[in-house]
Amino acid sequence: MINKKINRIGILTSGGDAPGMNACIRAVVRTAIHYNLEIFGIKRGYQGLIENDIYKLSSNSVSNIIQRGGTILKSARSLEFKTSEGRLKAHENLTNNNIDALITVGGDGTLTGALNFGSEYSFPIIGIPGTIDNDLSGTDKTIGFDTATNTALEAIDNIRDTANSHNRLFFVEVMGRNTGFIAIQAGIGGGAEAILIPEKETSIEELAAILDQGVKSNKSSSIIIVAEGQESGRTIEIAKQIKERFSYYDTRFSILGHIQRGGTPNSADRLLGSILGAKAVEGLIEGKESCMVGIIKNEIVYTPFEEILNTKKSINSEYLRIAKLLSSN
Ligand code: F6P
Repeated sequence: MINKKINRIGILTSGGDAPGMNACIRAVVRTAIHYNLEIFGIKRGYQGLIENDIYKLSSNSVSNIIQRGGTILKSARSLEFKTSEGRLKAHENLTNNNIDALITVGGDGTLTGALNFGSEYSFPIIGIPGTIDNDLSGTDKTIGFDTATNTALEAIDNIRDTANSHNRLFFVEVMGRNTGFIAIQAGIGGGAEAILIPEKETSIEELAAILDQGVKSNKSSSIIIVAEGQESGRTIEIAKQIKERFSYYDTRFSILGHIQRGGTPNSADRLLGSILGAKAVEGLIEGKESCMVGIIKNEIVYTPFEEILNTKKSINSEYLRIAKLLSSN
């Protein structure tokens, strides 16, 4: 059923930028125009909404961006939008611009903002999962995860050359906030000897046992992938503790950091961004709101914000078991 109420849609990207966001913006703009809707870009996420940093987008404004990383709308983590005063200003600006629906692209912080704002003002919003962390339920993959994982993998491959040449033990820290999705995928793909993720605590003793096993199997070098967890930098302490126990190891660490966030989106993220962008607009037209559009097992699904925010996406335990099995001899 066509929702006659929606004529002008706003789009914003919020939280950490992710490769594929531009493909998504392009799809939103072009789909909206296809259905004779007006489309407005909101700069710097919710902060731009509060500051009325809003401009009209045309089909030309999204030409030649599909291949670019980052987000042409820019992004921010707005503290002001967490306050009811901030959300009031945002609502006034939407009303003054006659914008009657929103599309928000980002991670869990973005969805939380959308849930609060949407229910406070009965405002139609559809969210699109855009984060390298892949930590949102309601979709198998988030926009940016695939590219970020490949960037991490390339770095791991490079480090392995050095690890091999110098018989070294390398700790490589990857992003992912409280989750280990990047670590598992890049770790298995990079043939890591161990993968440390927040979802499954690994003690120094357990890690030491894995390294001992490596020595027995005549491994001359090893790579341990560490998911950053709560705070980036925990790798330094882990590497220090292992170095104290295994003084014969020539140990180094490398924190990949924001290198994983930027860069040209790969085909998977361009596809995901394009499909979800188009389906978000079509969802609004059909009267859907307060939900995120995602793809699960090749099906487009719309899941309520609340359900997504209350459901933790879990790492497939088989991946963990197989990662261990493949590095055990
Ligand atoms: O959510 C994406 C992410 O890159 C996380 O992996 C990381 O923990 C965080 O953002 C870093 O945020 P910032 O760029 O604000 O330091």
